[in-house]
Amino acid sequence: MDARQMKIKAAEAALSHVEDGMRLGIGTGSTAEEFVRLLAEKVASGLKVEGVPTSERTARLCVELGVPLKSLDELPELDLTIDGADEVDRSLRLIKGGGGALLREKIVAAASSRMIVIADETKMVDTLGAFPLPIEINPFGQVATRIAVEKVAARLGLSGEIAPRKSGDDPFMTDGGHLILDASFGRIPDAEALGASLNAIPGVVEHGLFINLAALAIIAGPSGARTVERQK
Ligand code: A5P
Repeated sequence: MDARQMKIKAAEAALSHVEDGMRLGIGTGSTAEEFVRLLAEKVASGLKVEGVPTSERTARLCVELGVPLKSLDELPELDLTIDGADEVDRSLRLIKGGGGALLREKIVAAASSRMIVIADETKMVDTLGAFPLPIEINPFGQVATRIAVEKVAARLGLSGEIAPRKSGDDPFMTDGGHLILDASFGRIPDAEALGASLNAIPGVVEHGLFINLAALAIIAGPSGARTVERQK
C-alpha cells in the first residue's frame, strides 16, 4: 500500500463518523483532500451535510466537487472536524500547519464538538518536533517576533533553526495575510509549556501545536486503519 492509499484508508474510516445533517469542519492537506473526495461521493448520493473549509484551497476543492459550504460565521458551532496532521503523538497532541492553514484549522477545530485527525502511520511519533513547528506571525515587527520566539525556545532548552517560510523567492503568506516561521527543534518534550509561551508573544498569531483538540486519531498503515482515542 503506498502513502496515498493509506491516506484514502484513513479518510474512508473517518467518513463512517459523518452523519446526515452534520455541520462539518473540513481540514486542509493531501489527507483531508482524500476525505473531501469521498465525502463528495456521499453528497452526490444524497448525504446532507454542510461544511466549513479550513483554507481557500479546501474551499476550492469542495466547490469543484459539489460539497455544500458555509462560512464559520454562518455555522459557528460545528459537530465534527476531520483534518490531517504533520505529527501525532500517543496523547493525540499534534503538529499542524505544514500547509500553512494552522490558524483557520485551529479556529475551526476549537468550534467543533469533536475533532478527528486522519493520517498515515508515518505521522505517529513518540515525541513531537522532528517536523518543524509552524508558527504564524504578524508581518508587523516580524524580526522582533522572531527574536522573542528564539528567547522562548532558549528558555525552554530548545535549539534549532527558526526560519521564515518562503514561497519561491517570496515570503509565504497564509490565507489570513500572515507569515510563518518554521522552528526545527527536533524534539519538543514539553509541548504545553512551549505552546503557552508562544501564545504570550504579541506578534505570534497562532502556533501549530494542537493540544486537547483531537479526540480520536485514525491512523492508516499497510494492514488497514486503526483508531487511537485521547485519554481523558
Ligand atoms: C495544513 O496546514 C496542515 O495542518 C495539514 O493538515 C497537514 O500539513 C497534513 O497535511 P498532509 O495530509 O498533506 O500530510
